[in-house]
Amino acid sequence: MIVFIEMSLSLIRLSAAMLLCALGATANQTVDWWESATLYQIYPRSFMDSDGDGVGDLNGITSRLSYLKEIGATATWISPIYDSPMADMGYDVRNFTKISSIFGTMEDFDNLLAKAHELGLKVILDFVPNHSSDECEWFQKSVRREDGYDDWYVWDDGKIDPETGERSPPSNWRAVFGGSAWTWVEERQQYYLHQFLPQQVDLNYTNPAVRERMKEMMKFWLDRGVDGFRMDATNFLIEKRFDNGTFPDNPVKAGTVNTLAGTYTIDQWGSTEIIYEWRAFLDEYQKLNGGDTRAMIIEAYSPVDVLSNYISNGTNVGGQLPMNFNFVKLDENSNAETVETQVSAWMDVIWAKHKMANWVANNHDNSRLPTRMGQTKTDAMTMIIHGLPGTSVTYYGEEIGMPDYSLACTGDDCGFRDPERTPMQWDSSKNAGFSTGNSTWLAVNPNYKELNVEVQDGVTRSSLRIFKGMTALKKTAAFKAFKEKDAFSYKALSEHVFQVVRTAVGQEEYRVLANLGNQTEHFDGLSDKKMKYVLLNSYSPHSYGHKVDLSGRISLKPYEAVVLGWSKDKSCTKTKKVKHVGHVKKGRKLRHH
Ligand code: NOJ
Ligand code: MG
Repeated sequence: MIVFIEMSLSLIRLSAAMLLCALGATANQTVDWWESATLYQIYPRSFMDSDGDGVGDLNGITSRLSYLKEIGATATWISPIYDSPMADMGYDVRNFTKISSIFGTMEDFDNLLAKAHELGLKVILDFVPNHSSDECEWFQKSVRREDGYDDWYVWDDGKIDPETGERSPPSNWRAVFGGSAWTWVEERQQYYLHQFLPQQVDLNYTNPAVRERMKEMMKFWLDRGVDGFRMDATNFLIEKRFDNGTFPDNPVKAGTVNTLAGTYTIDQWGSTEIIYEWRAFLDEYQKLNGGDTRAMIIEAYSPVDVLSNYISNGTNVGGQLPMNFNFVKLDENSNAETVETQVSAWMDVIWAKHKMANWVANNHDNSRLPTRMGQTKTDAMTMIIHGLPGTSVTYYGEEIGMPDYSLACTGDDCGFRDPERTPMQWDSSKNAGFSTGNSTWLAVNPNYKELNVEVQDGVTRSSLRIFKGMTALKKTAAFKAFKEKDAFSYKALSEHVFQVVRTAVGQEEYRVLANLGNQTEHFDGLSDKKMKYVLLNSYSPHSYGHKVDLSGRISLKPYEAVVLGWSKDKSCTKTKKVKHVGHVKKGRKLRHH
């Protein structure tokens, strides 16, 4: 009997410990896959070339899917792979249901998807709803006013000067890539609208047939098994047109001489309504076909209130992840306070309202972070990005700290965004292991001999190891408990040191301390806990596993970034049980030297 009681007690203790460990997992069950994903953006031209033509392709991606898994990615979004004349590198779709021969075949795509799913990776396709290529069959038909297609694009006669009889565009609207947003078509004797290149023709979203067709296009890919879409340029879907058919001129932007505001061309409410329509469509698809949430990631460089409405306006629901580009704004002058401002700009509105967050610091349209902020801050930023709650979005090469390469292209038809699109640097072999070809579509950055995946895999404090360390932490109870009260906090502890704390209350805690400055900084009494160094960048003089008593002083060298860990029960994490050291006075003293 006594033996039995003894056993039961130890069983109870054991199950209590297990319960604590399981708490994080329980919390996690209410978290959908997209809410705390490690999302990896692949730019297909530049990721991996399988056939030696110097351009990346689908089979190349497939051959590297296990790498994604290895570095802790849980989902990937792939920039456009559709048939395209490539005026804007695939963001000008000629055929929405065909794979570009540059990238491979439909069979290659199905194979990629199957392999990804085998590995437990979600695949999200870039979907370009705002415009089609001018070589798209729909546009050709519309030019010829073929039955049903007359009204598929935004056509207009333009203005005729009553005195001279001279014709001019319908409005003063400018295209994002320069020039008038209107182009004249001789054959149809009308102007068409293009908010980007003249080869990217804006579809007419006031036409229900267009809206239906685009949903059919989505369905095509959903039926093949994709897990969601990254919606391109949604803030451009609808433009203002008066009832009499005219288009209002955009006013000059306040504080500028002749830069136009996007008053009538971007962020129109109708665009948000289309997102609601898509969400209803995707939810219905899931209801009919089962499976996990088909998520919508949305690209719009829009004010936070617009993005908030993209998610929901209280009545309707829209996209799960409007991308948060606040970190894309960071540059060489940014410090911990700037980071805090940018984090708060998101958290105060979107988190407060919708309990969701995502963090994007790089993509194919912007200068890479090491170039913008300085290579010294790369790993510190990786810790911050992944330390914050929600989904992290990584642009290929970000995990090894690839910078821009300004000589990526030296010919006549170079793109202004080429420097951030150079081939992935896999190893020290020819073309960085990206291609066996004689040349590559953009030059490989010559720094590849030292800066590549293979080299960094073997170096303890490399960018890649820091990245892997962070994605592994995202799977711990403390990181998963992000929706619970007291689960996280963030703060600029000084002008240069940013802190993120992630907590599974009473169970485990992690603390990111990132010094973005070139001075040593000291802090006294950050916490009552003794913690261990569990992740260290190359600027840190500390060793893995070393303890630090945060009731005392902790110092951070220039650019040093660390993650400290504390755990109540060592069976939950690798860190050993540490003694509770009692409370220190609240209100921390911060000292900088
Ligand atoms: C956003 C894409 O990311 C960019 O690359 C493209 O040029 C524009 N949308 C137009 O589709
Ligand atoms: Mg190829």
